[in-house]
Amino acid sequence: MSAVDATTANAIASSEEAGRKAKESTLLTPRFYTTDFKAMDRIDVAPIRAEWDAMMAEYEGDNNHDHFQRTPEFGVEAQAQMARMSPELRQEFLEFLISSVTSEFSGCILYNEIQKNVSNPDVKALMRYMARDESRHAGFINQSLKDFGIGIDLGDLKRTKAYTYFKPKYIFYATYLSEKIGYARYITIFRQLERNPDKRFHPIFKWFERWCNDEFRHGESFALIMRSQPHLLRGANTLWIRFFLLAVYATMYVRDHTRPMLKNAMGLDATTYDYEVFRITTEISKQVFPVSLDTDHPAFRAGLARLFELSTRMEAAKARGGLVGKLQQTGLAVAGFFTFARLYLLPVKQHALPHQVRMAPAW
Ligand SMILES: [Fe+2]
Ligand SMILES: [Fe+2]
Repeated sequence: MSAVDATTANAIASSEEAGRKAKESTLLTPRFYTTDFKAMDRIDVAPIRAEWDAMMAEYEGDNNHDHFQRTPEFGVEAQAQMARMSPELRQEFLEFLISSVTSEFSGCILYNEIQKNVSNPDVKALMRYMARDESRHAGFINQSLKDFGIGIDLGDLKRTKAYTYFKPKYIFYATYLSEKIGYARYITIFRQLERNPDKRFHPIFKWFERWCNDEFRHGESFALIMRSQPHLLRGANTLWIRFFLLAVYATMYVRDHTRPMLKNAMGLDATTYDYEVFRITTEISKQVFPVSLDTDHPAFRAGLARLFELSTRMEAAKARGGLVGKLQQTGLAVAGFFTFARLYLLPVKQHALPHQVRMAPAW
C-alpha cells in the first residue's frame, strides 16, 4: 500500500470515526481521569494564601472571556487553505485537532467532577474556573472539526470513554505537567507562526497566544497546591516526579514524531520543536519540582529516538499480525520497557525551590 493509499484508508471522514479516535486508549492517546474527591476536599491552601488569592482574582477577572469567538476567517478562507493541503497533512492536522479536543475536554471533565464533589470553597472555586476555561477551549476546537463535518459528540465521549483513576498526588504531578507543557507547545507554535505567517495554514493558531495563558495559569494553580503540601515534593516522591516528567516528555516525543508533517508545514522540525518545548517546560517546572531531566544529555536524546523507533516497529508488527507479529510485539514491548528504564535512571538536575512560587508566562 502506498503512503497515499494508507492515508486514505485511515482518513477520518465522519463524526463517528472522529469519536472513535477520541475514545482510543493507548499509551499515546489523551486519557480521562477520576480521583479521590474526599482527599481533594482536604486541600488546605493556607501556607500559600497570598499567592492563591492573587491567582483567584485573575480567574475572576476572566481576561479571556471574549477570546474564543470565531471570526469570518474560519469560513471560506480556512476552507480554501485546507483544500490546498495534501491529504497526508490534512490527516495529521485533523488527528492533532482530535487529540487536542480530547485533552482539553479531559481537563474540563476532571475539574468539573472535582468541583461537584467537594465542599472546600477554595478548591471548588478553582475547579469551577478551570472547567470554564477548558470547556471554552474544547468547544472552540470542536467548531473547527465541525467545519470538516467531523465534530465530536462530547456528551457521548464523556459517557463512553474509559476513565483512569489517579490518586490526588498523581493528578497534581500529571496535570501540572500537562498544563505547563500545553502552554509551552502552544506558545512555541504561536511564536513560530508569528515569525512566518505564510506557514499559518489554519486560523486557529492565531488564538494560541491568549489561549495558552489560560493553560499557564492552570499550571500555576497546581504548582500552588503542591507547594502548600511540601511532602509531595521531597523524599521518595521525587522518584514519582521523575517518572511523570519522563512519561510526559517521552509520550509527547513519540506522538509528535508520528506526525512529522504537521511540524514541517509550520517550518519546524519535530525534534527541534520538542526540545524547545522541553526546555521551556523544564525552566517553568523549577517553580515546584526540585528535580528536572537533563534533556540535552546525549544518552537522553538517544533514548527518546530509540523509543520512537521501537514505537514505529510496534505499529508495523501490529499491522503484520499473526504469530510472528505477536512475538515481535512482545519483544518490542520488552525493549521499550528497558529503554524507558534506562532513561529513568539517567542522572537528573537538582534545584532549590524559589520562595515565590508564581511566574509570568514570558515566552
Ligand atoms: Fe485548555
Ligand atoms: Fe488547561
